[in-house]
Amino acid sequence: MNRRIAVLISGRGTNLQSIIDATASGALNATIAVVVSNRADAHGLTRARDAGIEALHLSPREHPNRDAYDLAIVAALRSRDVHLVCLAGFMRLVGRPLLDAFPERILNIHPSLLPSFRGLEAQRQALDHGVRISGATVHLVTSDLDDGPIVLQAAVRVQDDDTVETLSARILAEEHRIYPEAIGRLLDRGWRIEGRRVRFPAKPE
Ligand code: GRF
Repeated sequence: MNRRIAVLISGRGTNLQSIIDATASGALNATIAVVVSNRADAHGLTRARDAGIEALHLSPREHPNRDAYDLAIVAALRSRDVHLVCLAGFMRLVGRPLLDAFPERILNIHPSLLPSFRGLEAQRQALDHGVRISGATVHLVTSDLDDGPIVLQAAVRVQDDDTVETLSARILAEEHRIYPEAIGRLLDRGWRIEGRRVRFPAKPE
């Protein structure tokens, strides 16, 4: 299987860093073909360049509408022969052109145990709701926000004295662990979708 991936970011890029580190250590057998940011000031672009990975800023403002912007991303990924697209703090809704170009091949990481607490500030939502367990989810991206089939999850206990910051930090540590693992599992095993379930074919003997 083609093991070339792209990572789409908007900000600090700690999940990107965990994927870079996993490929560098050999824990994840994949090639990060390109990192794309919608923001010029995303620190993740620097992380990519420091690791010798091509880093592209594609500005939405330079495209007339959302579809045109999505198509520019598609062109950038296709020309680099990308097989799997990993959103890592990419703060834009993924539109039809991108979804259609990479059907069931776009991943996202979200800081809650989906389907709880979709959308922004998931850690604050979890604290406000009073749940005792939250966590992180890697899922395939569909046209509905934070709603696609789940690849991997990790649970994190909420402590009585947790703040958004302390809970976010513990969830982030789990994100950094499960995102490279999920990517590796998909690339190693392949996958198919049954209903809402991600199925991994049995490992070859
Ligand atoms: C992470 O919490 C991720 O779950 C969410 O956005 C944040 C990105 O952080 N989708 P980083 O840019 O990877 O540090």
